[in-house]
Amino acid sequence: MRLQKYMAHAGAASRRKSEEYIAEGRVKVNGQVITELGYKVQPSDKVYLDGKRLKIIREHTYIALNKPMGVVSTVSDEKGRKTVTDLIDLDRRLYPIGRLDVDTTGLILLTDDGEITNKITHPKYEIEKTYIVTAEGRPDKRELDILRKGVKVGQEKFKGAKVKILKNFEEDTIIETTISEGKNHQIKIMYEKIGHPVKKLKRISVGEIQLGNLEIGNYRFLSDDEINYLKGLK
Ligand code: URA
Repeated sequence: MRLQKYMAHAGAASRRKSEEYIAEGRVKVNGQVITELGYKVQPSDKVYLDGKRLKIIREHTYIALNKPMGVVSTVSDEKGRKTVTDLIDLDRRLYPIGRLDVDTTGLILLTDDGEITNKITHPKYEIEKTYIVTAEGRPDKRELDILRKGVKVGQEKFKGAKVKILKNFEEDTIIETTISEGKNHQIKIMYEKIGHPVKKLKRISVGEIQLGNLEIGNYRFLSDDEINYLKGLK
């Protein structure tokens, strides 16, 4: 979020007035005077006007994180592995919304808003989640059609997935795969079933929330539009 917008949201002044304060050198970020209007405030930044700390008072916090490999998507881990909340340096107790496997990378949302967490993880809402799958070998149309129709797992059946080949290599294939459920290891089970096990898995979107160019291990606040989208889900 741009500095002047952050200041306006924090109730310091209007956006126009905030721009004047910035130009006058009255604004510091992490102890340093910032006169650049385009400065982008990061979630962990501390912003001051005339020496007084500004804070955006929101009832809840909503974060998008690009989860690295080897990090677990829980709040604590009995094996002492790094967790997604270890990567977020905010004085708020946040919880991941849903799970990614320890070896899956990409978009995971975190919040302290229990209502939103229940909504997104509740099967009724059928929020689409898109993954970039690296699958072993070269699945053919017949095999991918099995995923499109819905894979049977014991007594259960997964709903049909949207599947699109992005790139073929000699030994594996990159496939964009969208599912509307969130069953345990769902993508891995699907590709295992058609004989093309997953080698790499990365989530790039949850509903309308995109990973975009967020670097691995980094996080950002969701925008007002993204928060309103989550709140408006019916
Ligand atoms: N499906 C999987 O198999 N693993 C994940 O982490 C997410 C979806």
